[in-house]
This record gives sequence, C-alpha cells and structure tokens, in this order.
Amino acid sequence: MSHGPSAAGGAIIKGGHGAHEPHEPVFVGATKARLDDLLTRYPTKQAALLPALWMLQEARGWVSEAGMAEVAQVLDLTPAYVQGVVTFYTMYHQHPVGKFFIQVCTTSPCHVCGAEDVVKAFLQQTGCGELGVTSDDGRYTVIEVECLGACGFATPVMINSDFLESITPESVPEVLKRYG
Ligand code: FES
Repeated sequence: MSHGPSAAGGAIIKGGHGAHEPHEPVFVGATKARLDDLLTRYPTKQAALLPALWMLQEARGWVSEAGMAEVAQVLDLTPAYVQGVVTFYTMYHQHPVGKFFIQVCTTSPCHVCGAEDVVKAFLQQTGCGELGVTSDDGRYTVIEVECLGACGFATPVMINSDFLESITPESVPEVLKRYG
C-alpha cells in the first residue's frame, strides 16, 4: 500500500537540485530539429505536446514552469494549457528529482510479498531516508507507486526507464551498484 509520495509531482525538494537554476532553452539546435521532425508526424502542433514534454524532461530532468512556457511557445499553446496537461499526468516531474528516479510497487499483491522492506532498503541505502526526498548527492529519489503490471514478480521496481523484477531487500545493494 502507498503511504507517501506516490507520484513524481509529490516529490519533496531537498537541497533544490536544479530548482533555482535559470531555464536554458531546450528546443534549440539538435533538439529543435528533433521536435521539427516529430511535428511532421502529428496533425497539429498541440498533438505533439506529450512527446515535447518528454523531450524537456529528458533534457532537464524535470518540468519547470519556465520549461512549460518554452513548450507552450514552440507549440503555439498557452502556458496554462501546458500546465494543465503536466499536472494531469504523474509521469512528469514537477520538481527536481534525483538522477535515478526509483519507483517501487507497493500495491497489495506486492505489499504482501514484502515490498515495504524493499522500499526501506532503498531509502536506507540511497541515503534518501524518506519517500519523495532526493538524496543529498542528488543521485536518488525513491517513491512508492501503484501496480506496475508485474504482480507475479514481486517486487517490481522502475529506475528511470529500466524495469526490474523480483527485487528483494538483499538484492538492493547489487541493483544500486548499477545506478551509481
Ligand atoms: S501489485 Fe505490484 S506489480 Fe501489480
């Protein structure tokens, strides 16, 4: 069961990794060329909003207000419209998060198989200490999430876009060695 921040939007800012840095435009050079190419495959600029936001998050690690404004400008949308979409979807980070964003399923089937102990192991061994808090070194943020669709492989964990199955408290140190 989830007891803490369960989506990126709920991540707690500690140390403000990147939170106070001025926004450098993302859609320039090669990234602008990628977006332009993408736009040829969509009927309208608005239809490309989700992938454009992914590109922003990929480049900056999160989606800031200034980033939303930039996306709005390149897609001829209003910042309010973009913000509405960003706040609807939990996969967009509305605060800076660690370089490695760790999502642990704690829904009932995984919970009864010991997911809470996996969460505890990640919190201790990453130095995060608490759900949604980024470690002091800026490397990790751990959150609990609902069913990841791998209920037969408790405990499933996502680290950025990698999907890991059958994680136990004992295997956490080995996993973290791959994400140092
Ligand atoms: S309940 Fe954990 S993956 Fe489905």
